[in-house]
Amino acid sequence: MIYPIVAYGDPVLKKKAVDVDKSMDIETLIDDMFETMYNASGVGLAAPQIGKSVRLFIMDGGKPDIEDRTPFQRVFINPEIIFEEGEEWAFEEGCLSIPDVRQDVMRKPNIKIKYFDADWKEHEDEFDSVTARIIQHEYDHVEGILFTDYLSPMKKRLLKGRLSNISKGKIKVDYLMKFPNRKR
Ligand code: NI
Repeated sequence: MIYPIVAYGDPVLKKKAVDVDKSMDIETLIDDMFETMYNASGVGLAAPQIGKSVRLFIMDGGKPDIEDRTPFQRVFINPEIIFEEGEEWAFEEGCLSIPDVRQDVMRKPNIKIKYFDADWKEHEDEFDSVTARIIQHEYDHVEGILFTDYLSPMKKRLLKGRLSNISKGKIKVDYLMKFPNRKR
């Protein structure tokens, strides 16, 4: 099932998500999230982006539009970043909840993260480069942070109108979305 992706401006995107409970049926949810992500040609998707405020995100870093990639499909449940290190580097990020907006964001290149996979097996892994970047972006989603939060006050001012239009659904997008400020 393809879920509508929640657009910029919806409070669920600014909320810190809660841990996934082991009794929750996540198998269907994870399948649906992959289907939703691929349908929107995304490389990552976090549960709050489909309106579910739980600490779960998925990624597939093997998309052909990302250079320097390692093919990589993974599920992160109840993740916890243990460290981020190295010299910050700029990378142009986008977000399925904020269509057509791409901006450079500075992040550290090396991370270590603890998480459970879809079988509730615990992992503690290190990632770098674009893979780390995708994980950092999706991790932010379960923390209630959007990449636009990192922009300078001037960039934010310049983008204000576009972000407001996105929240109202005044945008052309080729996947299903839910707009918080759409007028009926
Ligand atoms: Ni995003």
